[in-house]
Amino acid sequence: MIGAGNVGFHLGKRLFKKEHNIVQVFSRKIAKAEYLSTKIKAQAIDDLSDLVIDADFYIIAVHDDAIKEVSDKISQKKGIVVHTSGSINTDRLDKHSEYGSFYPLQTFTIKNKPDWKTIPFCYCGNNSSSEKKIKQLVRSISKNDNKITDEQRLSLHLPAVIVNNFTNHLIGIAKDICFKHSVPFELLVPLLRESLKKAEIHNPYEIQTGPARRDDQKTIKKHLSLLSKEQYRAVYKLLSESILKTEAERNNKS
Ligand SMILES: NC(=O)c1ccc[n+]([C@@H]2O[C@H](COP(=O)([O-])OP(=O)(O)OC[C@H]3O[C@@H](n4cnc5c(N)ncnc54)[C@H](OP(=O)(O)O)[C@@H]3O)[C@@H](O)[C@H]2O)c1
Repeated sequence: MIGAGNVGFHLGKRLFKKEHNIVQVFSRKIAKAEYLSTKIKAQAIDDLSDLVIDADFYIIAVHDDAIKEVSDKISQKKGIVVHTSGSINTDRLDKHSEYGSFYPLQTFTIKNKPDWKTIPFCYCGNNSSSEKKIKQLVRSISKNDNKITDEQRLSLHLPAVIVNNFTNHLIGIAKDICFKHSVPFELLVPLLRESLKKAEIHNPYEIQTGPARRDDQKTIKKHLSLLSKEQYRAVYKLLSESILKTEAERNNKS
């Protein structure tokens, strides 16, 4: 396991739980490698030249920008090299004869335990042999395996960023406002749950409500005056504009 960050940590533990033998955990910070390696009975290393050369898989779970650099430093004989990124092409790994993608479509942070039963896995290999073996690895830890090309993975990564990263940021802003105005965020939780439930079942544009959808400029102005940070005002304005324009486009079509 190359990388002991959010993904490396959870993937390492999951593979270990499913009885894979994790030989080594690499991190540039040895303490981080050790933190994971003690949990999964692996050797901790902080130098890629110490990697064993006969592993079946080399799973690269490092920062996207470091994937090629790390891949190029791996000297191995028979293993398949995969990365866990949503947006990086697998040809970055083409120094190796067998390589591919091993992408769990979920958000991971070390302190939060993921629910592996619901995690879709996207994978691909550079040839039929590597693809078959990567699929086997996926199937050993997830029932939701999806053969997906590099292009498709990027096309999924973009909406994944929107539904997770952006939504999470918006919830952060909402919490901040509650804190500043001394109102309980808990009162918003049923609304948050209902929004997700409805958007899953219906066309989100058909169920859109709120001041922007109604073009209620008076309320929009009031809200903007309550937002203390410039970046929050910018987000509010941009999203309101997007809602208004989308609504206008939909009305023009019908
Ligand atoms: N987090 C998610 O929700 C998620 C979900 C799906 C896929 N992914 C993908 O999984 C990969 C890992 O993401 P992550 O969230 O686990 O990131 P992370 O928590 O930031 O961990 C990435 C690790 O990369 C290592 N690193 C950075 N630069 C490096 C370099 N030049 N050489 C070697 N190691 C380097 C760092 O470890 P040291 O500084 O200790 O060496 C860092 O701990 C990324 O490709 C990401 O796109 C993430």
